[in-house]
Amino acid sequence: MKPVYGIGIESSCDETGVALVKDGIEIISNPLFSQINLHTGYGGVIPELASRSHLEKIPFLVGQALSDLHQAPDYIAVTVKPGLAGSLLVGYNTALALSDFYQVPLIPVHHLEAHFHAVSLDTGQMLNYPFLGLLVSGGNSALYRVDGPGQISVLGDTRDDAAGEALDKAASLLSLPYPGGPHIEKAAAEAGIENMKNPLPVVLRDQPADRYEFSFSGLKTALLYLLQKEPDQYSTAQIAAFFQERLFEIFFRNTRRVLKNTDLKTMIAAGGVTANRYLRAGLEKITVEAGVEFHVPPLNLCTDNGAMIAAAGYASYRQGNIPRQYHVSSDNRFSFTALRER
Ligand code: KG4
Repeated sequence: MKPVYGIGIESSCDETGVALVKDGIEIISNPLFSQINLHTGYGGVIPELASRSHLEKIPFLVGQALSDLHQAPDYIAVTVKPGLAGSLLVGYNTALALSDFYQVPLIPVHHLEAHFHAVSLDTGQMLNYPFLGLLVSGGNSALYRVDGPGQISVLGDTRDDAAGEALDKAASLLSLPYPGGPHIEKAAAEAGIENMKNPLPVVLRDQPADRYEFSFSGLKTALLYLLQKEPDQYSTAQIAAFFQERLFEIFFRNTRRVLKNTDLKTMIAAGGVTANRYLRAGLEKITVEAGVEFHVPPLNLCTDNGAMIAAAGYASYRQGNIPRQYHVSSDNRFSFTALRER
């Protein structure tokens, strides 16, 4: 079969990525520019700086990705949501120009869905639908049922914070550096709390067995009170381990419940927090026990990149299922609404 070459463009937040991917599974090039140094001094992403930087870098990245292609691409895929509006518009307008120039389809991609497609670039196989998708990142903590490209239903979302956000906040309370997740993991690994009673509360203890929500604000507050009331009772490592245990417990409980209550036989976990070995090991154990296939993208494809956008776009391209109705927006819903007709 004739190979299909796709360009994937990512500019939703603080990474500019343009990739060339063959058949949705093979990365030919995946140049990326991270703006981390631009925003570090502000303690968060500054939207105006982000969009200006995308604008400055994207032409070079497009040039790099296209230099490995000796024909017209077959499609252009681009993140259209969720993200910073100004940043998304830079990627979108670049994609629009390329799709008009080459006269090939422009495929709108939902950024969160694309994170799952990073697995295809590792296994060399397209995703098997349906699957259970778990997203654990700085901005999201949610379980999804994914039946096909764009066919996603939310099984359980967070009521307040995302797990990564809570880990970063806990690390700051413990005077550990930002981003806190890896530092909490490292400290916790040396704590040895196995025979100790965890003083922190169980998250959503009374949640009914058919609900799969998350919540971390109460856990954060409990940590603050513990540190205020009993500052010397536990070491930093022990507190990090108690916090990590409680935070991931709800992921393990919800995953077990979904797998018990549904017929899903594949699970994909994605997002920056899946770098955590304690979380990975727990999910691996649960999926093995449930007889479910489990995948996590490799660490280098866990962060935002253009290749996962091209891979997600390929799934729509293959099915001929290219949404004609969409708009660029920061909303999180897995549907494309307003109209762009070619
Ligand atoms: O997906 P991601 O790169 O970006 C955003 O959603 O913005 O996730 C970033 C989050 C941060 O909160 C960071 O603390 C967390 O991932 N993280 C970790 C680990 N590595 C990164 N959390 C726990 N353990 C880790 N090893």
